[in-house]
Amino acid sequence: MKTSDLTELEAASELAYLAKKISELNKAYYLNDAPLVTDAEYDELKRRNEEIERLFPHLIRKDSPTNLVGATIIADDFKKIKHAVPMLSLANIFSDPEITDFVVRLKKFIDLDNSADFEFMAEPKLDGLSFSALYINKKFVQGATRGDGQVGEDITENLKQIKYLPLELKGDDVPEKIEIRGEVIMNKADFLALNELQEQKKLKPFANPRNAAAGSLRQLDPRVTGRRNLSLFGYTYGTVSELKWSSQSEFLQKITEWGFPVSPEVRLCKNITELREFFAQLGEKRPFLPYDIDGAVYKVNRLDYQNRLGFVARAPRWAIAHKFPPEKAQTLLENIRIQVGRTGILTPVADVTPINVGGVLVSHATLHNDDEIKRKDIRINDTIIIQRAGDVIPQITGVVLSKRPADSTEFVFPTTCPVCGSAVIQDDTAVAKRCSGGLFCPAQIVESLKHFVSRDTLNIDGLGDKIITSFYEKGWVKRPSDIFNLEQNYGQQIVKLEGWGDKSASNLFSSIQKVANATPLDKFIFALGIPEIGQATARLLASTYLSIEHFLAQMKLAIDPTSNAYLELINIDSIGPVIATKITTFMSGQHNLEEIDNLLAVMNITPFIKVESNSVLSGKTVVFTGTLETMTRNEAKAKALSAGAKVAGSVSSKTDYVIQGADAGSKAQKAIELGIQVITETEFSEMIK
Ligand code: IVH
Repeated sequence: MKTSDLTELEAASELAYLAKKISELNKAYYLNDAPLVTDAEYDELKRRNEEIERLFPHLIRKDSPTNLVGATIIADDFKKIKHAVPMLSLANIFSDPEITDFVVRLKKFIDLDNSADFEFMAEPKLDGLSFSALYINKKFVQGATRGDGQVGEDITENLKQIKYLPLELKGDDVPEKIEIRGEVIMNKADFLALNELQEQKKLKPFANPRNAAAGSLRQLDPRVTGRRNLSLFGYTYGTVSELKWSSQSEFLQKITEWGFPVSPEVRLCKNITELREFFAQLGEKRPFLPYDIDGAVYKVNRLDYQNRLGFVARAPRWAIAHKFPPEKAQTLLENIRIQVGRTGILTPVADVTPINVGGVLVSHATLHNDDEIKRKDIRINDTIIIQRAGDVIPQITGVVLSKRPADSTEFVFPTTCPVCGSAVIQDDTAVAKRCSGGLFCPAQIVESLKHFVSRDTLNIDGLGDKIITSFYEKGWVKRPSDIFNLEQNYGQQIVKLEGWGDKSASNLFSSIQKVANATPLDKFIFALGIPEIGQATARLLASTYLSIEHFLAQMKLAIDPTSNAYLELINIDSIGPVIATKITTFMSGQHNLEEIDNLLAVMNITPFIKVESNSVLSGKTVVFTGTLETMTRNEAKAKALSAGAKVAGSVSSKTDYVIQGADAGSKAQKAIELGIQVITETEFSEMIK
């Protein structure tokens, strides 16, 4: 049919058909490397789509294929890849004395003499996007982003477009299987050129080279990645079939020989003085380097030491990132407003005249709390000094008093919540002030809802901050459990919302369903938003109680501080009476209990699965006593944890083994009384082998 003969209804329906069809063809072509039609047929469909859009511009769809040319094509369509070895992050330090703390701490951990040799590989901290590149029989076979550290996105085709990535490694000593990890970066010059192009095309410029690198890599059309001039450097490894090196410096040497790029700025440092020198020199070079860096990374060089040092939470104990000091600028403080967080804490936020701080446009900064505003004597209309470091929210460090105008006004902290009007009270544990409205306060509900669906908790795809907030404002989601009734109660309305359609709605409902069908206990506990319970503590709780039923039953009992359940709770490493009370207070709130019941009616919470371990210590509770000879107490604890054991502070009927070092005291005695097995350090070492 000729385009001009189409009725509006026919045009809309054909546009819908074309959007779907062209997207399928794109995927087949770009992702699966398997075109379904000839180029001419494809072009004809695109031409037809454009013609209809020209005649019926008001019918142009959000997912129109015309919008997708050269732009990001829905990132959700990347295939997911589970990392064989998790991709970790690094702990940070910000000052010189912390270098010494770090080195001394590590030496103590493995009981090295202070004068003993302890080398570090010092590297630039590249400010880009981490990647993993898997080589089998020297051939590049798979690429992935970091994602959440456990699961990343398949960017095999995109990485192939980067000219520095060797498609084949050279040399005779490449392990059969090796995953090289590193950072994809965009050179400063390429970033500026790209932004000029964006401007010419009337597209939004990228905020900094890192964002540009990330946006360019995560393209469903790998040809776009190819046009963006990305670079990369390798700096670590994931899964390896055979270790052919015994230090980080040898590793970097090897991959260089195999043809993989390594930053020329790396240096082996023998001691703290050399680390300091490295940092100072790197800082001087920084403005002249072709790419952005945001600090240095120090890694214990010897692998045997790295293995003994192990990991803490999601970062290696044997490495640290030393960040450059934050960049500063002066601007005008236009206004102070109050933000209400998930737990009701009121945070004053400064709106400032937008200013470029270290390459990023800043228009807001946090003021932390009322005390901070008073202490720094910050007034509205003042010229303030603003600083920003990495991804941290910009901070106001002080006022330029010489520039204070006559009409500067002091900020008066509100006595009622600006969102719900409830009284503002002083928080019991912090200097902060808190809204007393609890879940009566819309701001707190919205923040809890955002937390509930966020990436580290239930990770419901398609339910980002903006959408969950708008569903709340419409009255469709008032509490977490409402999310699971969205399809039934508001499915029809959601499909019709602006920017939504059958596909996006059904994607959302299926990701909600996926979460309803199986949510691991640790994610569920974290999602509940119990004050002070972060990801790591939620995981500890899950690994202690294993099932949701057992967890709830024990928490109910633990409300009584004389109960065994309470003792068990505070005996969990890192949970003391303060946190225990936060948990039991939450668990005795009527509203919270009702909501947990609502959730359990629609969700299946899967028991915590222990990391597979062959160790006999897996699942056992151990207690250490006395002085150990071959390792420090911290090292022993870390080893026990990674063998799947729980480490408790005191002996109880739940203890499986007491590991007795020299000069053991009453714990060993108590173990004997309770009939618990007491073992030697040598026996323990055997068990964790
Ligand atoms: S090593 C197990 N080395 O920094 C060690 N990371 O803040 C993990 N990064 O996710 C990483 N330069 O994306 C390492 N020379 C370097 C690095 C580096 C930049 C990034 C990396 C990591 C993040 C952690």
